[in-house]
Amino acid sequence: MTTSSSLSNEQFAFLDLKPEVGVIVDEVHRGLSLEAKAISPKFFYDERGSELFDAITELPEYYVTRTEMALFEAHMEEIAAALEENICVIEYGSGSTKKIRRLLDVLKPEAYVPVDISGDYLLSNAQALLDDFPALKIFPVCADITQSFDLPVQVNELRPLGFYPGSSIGNFEPAQAVDFLRRVHVTLGQGGYFLVGVDAKKDISILEAAYDDAAGVTAQFNLNTLVHLNEKLGADFDLDHFEHFSRYNADQGCIQMFLKSTVAQQVNLVGKVISFAEGELLHTENSYKYAKEEFIALAQSAQFECLKSWQDSNQWFSLFLLRAC
Ligand code: TRP
Repeated sequence: MTTSSSLSNEQFAFLDLKPEVGVIVDEVHRGLSLEAKAISPKFFYDERGSELFDAITELPEYYVTRTEMALFEAHMEEIAAALEENICVIEYGSGSTKKIRRLLDVLKPEAYVPVDISGDYLLSNAQALLDDFPALKIFPVCADITQSFDLPVQVNELRPLGFYPGSSIGNFEPAQAVDFLRRVHVTLGQGGYFLVGVDAKKDISILEAAYDDAAGVTAQFNLNTLVHLNEKLGADFDLDHFEHFSRYNADQGCIQMFLKSTVAQQVNLVGKVISFAEGELLHTENSYKYAKEEFIALAQSAQFECLKSWQDSNQWFSLFLLRAC
């Protein structure tokens, strides 16, 4: 754990809790040794991945971001009114900080803690935010949100509001989503608020188009995982021999994303050789879709009560304001 002193003062401090490369290699090896090969979706989000994801949020097929933003826009005042004073907003997986700006305008928190695994991207976005919100205290934390982490000591006296938009909670398996919420509960403490955006079940054709757009941005985003592994871990995935593949699994209620090996091939990954058969799938991500009641039940099993929830008129997306009890 290091705190960069040149980037640290009362108003701004960067906390770097990024996992060691060795830990990451082990995790990748483990996933690629499984019968059904898989890699953790956190490898999407290097700098290029974060930029590609921003492009996804603007695609005509990807209704998620604009539906969620409209919900925030419509209910922002109501959200603000439901909270106490002296709020510290903790954003899980903050990415470009685009969504947070409106929320900061209206909620006027004391402090903002963006948490993201992509350290450079996090730092540059957090610094840019400082220019536009000169009175806000900002304490970015570079961490893996799928593991436990502590909040910066500077915010100990404030009431935490966790913010987890974009239906990223759907990227966990349901049981892991409960584990995640339990860790959030520990981080925020009893009485902490959690504002979460969750995608709902809907017509399959709408769902499938959102995860396989005509311009191929989602395909690039998925393939970028391999670029990331090549660059960071010295793997030698051949990008010409993998392609994006996604489908809706109605039994599980989730979109499943894969990289399909288009030929029989071998890949070197830090001393390990991994064989792929032609057509073999490497699983990269799921995106679970929850009906409102399903999600409330999930949150309750992690000791969160639902204070309020909002849905758009199509019932495509839900916002939940939870409280740790
Ligand atoms: N949280 C986003 C979602 O489930 C992540 C996402 C969007 C995504 N498009 C993707 C992940 C494509 C992998 C591939 O909607």
